[in-house]
Amino acid sequence: MFLVNHNFIYLNHASTGVIPEAAVKKMNEVIDDFAQQGDPGKEYQDVISREARKRVAQLINGELENIAFTMNTSHAIYIALTNIPLGEGDVVVVMNECFPAAKYVVKYNLPGIEVEYVNFAQKDPVEVIKKVLNSRVRALVVDHVQYFTGERMSLLALSNFLKEKGIFLIVDGIQAVGCINVDVKREGIDILACGGSKWLNGPQGTGFLYTSPEAFRRLKKIYTGWLGAPWKDYISFDILPEPFEDARRFELGTRNLIGIAGLSESISILLEYGLEKIEKRIRKLNTLLLEGLKRKKFEIITPENRMAGIVTGRTKSALAESVYKKLKENNIIISLRNNALRFSPHFYNTEEEIEKVLEII
Ligand SMILES: Cc1ncc(COP(=O)(O)O)c(C=O)c1O
Repeated sequence: MFLVNHNFIYLNHASTGVIPEAAVKKMNEVIDDFAQQGDPGKEYQDVISREARKRVAQLINGELENIAFTMNTSHAIYIALTNIPLGEGDVVVVMNECFPAAKYVVKYNLPGIEVEYVNFAQKDPVEVIKKVLNSRVRALVVDHVQYFTGERMSLLALSNFLKEKGIFLIVDGIQAVGCINVDVKREGIDILACGGSKWLNGPQGTGFLYTSPEAFRRLKKIYTGWLGAPWKDYISFDILPEPFEDARRFELGTRNLIGIAGLSESISILLEYGLEKIEKRIRKLNTLLLEGLKRKKFEIITPENRMAGIVTGRTKSALAESVYKKLKENNIIISLRNNALRFSPHFYNTEEEIEKVLEII
């Protein structure tokens, strides 16, 4: 199913996922159709987009109308944040430990807005936000799963608390969706930004934004283009249809159809296996890994009780870089981060692979 398995033990999905053969085939077919036909037509494009949107919706338990395709996570965070009604002096709170994606968006795209960075690691998120709350706070941006420690934040109590206060919660889901079973309804997530190229095994340059109808209603709706509107055909452009009254209006123009087709195929594999089963399977592999690393006297950085897809640890006896290199020489791919080793297996990795990695360490 995954060509990478012929060459490597690949435990690096928190960095870049692996495109399955079926998605490669699908993308090749779409490329071929464009190459051979030039324009395969509106209906052809609509079918691929609709199917992909449906699969993304199923993945997160949303509705297809509430999904907008984006280029990546940052793009989705950008659309969300620039659409929040903010005035001079308003405050956006950002999880200090979050990946730079959100940090760049807030720093360079929200002139006149104050940004407050707050530590959430190993703390109750509601208690954290209560401490910094004031009447100017309009939004909070968090990573559902922290990219280095792998700590998974529970969102339900936080989203309920913020909803009561009318504060937007923007969740960066790229380290969560496809690895743990993220359900926007169960967790009360109103705005979810997610790239396609990690745990979803999609191609780079794909992603999506989800906005609940309630959140959408309160947004400014300032980011839209001609494909943010329902065209019946591409024959006459005299009458301009009104944009969609849902997240689809956040798509500007011609889509990355090849990438979307690939992402869609990759997601269908996850859906077929089952999201609950994927989460359990990854947990099983990571528990095995964790126990093995502990036996080897690693300092475990990942909080075990809030683990998702990432296990990070430090050797006490050697430099992380030397272990990383040794693994790489043996065709084992993980990430080196802050003098620590970050492992991130997916559901199709095997117990034998984990044992082999532990043996080599
Ligand atoms: C939490 C998190 N957000 C975002 C990204 C990447 O952002 P983008 O999809 O915009 O490239 C990463 C990549 O490592 C990440 O770990």
